[in-house]
Amino acid sequence: MTDYDAGRNKVDDYEVLLSSEQIAKRVKEIAEVISNDYRGKRPLLIGVLKGAVIFLSDLIRFLTIPVEIDFIAVSSYGNATASSGVVRILKDLEQSIQGKDVLIVEDIVDTGLTLNYLADNLGSRQPNSLRVVTLLDKPDRRKVKFEPDYCGFNIPDRFVVGYGLDYGEDYRQLSDLRVLDE
Ligand code: IMP
Ligand code: MG
Repeated sequence: MTDYDAGRNKVDDYEVLLSSEQIAKRVKEIAEVISNDYRGKRPLLIGVLKGAVIFLSDLIRFLTIPVEIDFIAVSSYGNATASSGVVRILKDLEQSIQGKDVLIVEDIVDTGLTLNYLADNLGSRQPNSLRVVTLLDKPDRRKVKFEPDYCGFNIPDRFVVGYGLDYGEDYRQLSDLRVLDE
């Protein structure tokens, strides 16, 4: 099947950084680690909209423990590829997280500004525990110190799309993770 973006550009030529098979294998591995770490618990997984929806959907189906899910939406980028450094909550959680074992599920850590802000904000709501799982990490791009508790892949400083990640809302539905070179 040929994938197109909204401008009907072919994306087959875009370099595949991680194939859907590689991603699935790694997501399963992370799910096993998380299932072990949270054995006997029922964590609340908080997906960061919108980029993390595909990762969260795949991750929870590999978990062997009961979970709840909720979503939060933040904006720090507008429609650009460079971080403005401004983080805003666009949609908040539906519930209190007080006393809960919270696991933030993110697509990618780049400058670290988003998760730094989210971890602070959610941490102040008195959860029992708070951890972060990210599918991707670009450690070279950090502006603030931030270490995810679980990470799928460290990737180089390139702009990637697919598997939930977008550029101007395009490409989220691609199964593979591809490099978008400007
Ligand atoms: P941070 O606050 O700079 O760590 O940015 C994290 C957010 O920026 C992610 O949740 C993504 O939405 C977005 N982002 C960063 N790098 C990429 C990329 O390579 N592709 C798509 N989105 C990205
Ligand atoms: Mg995101």
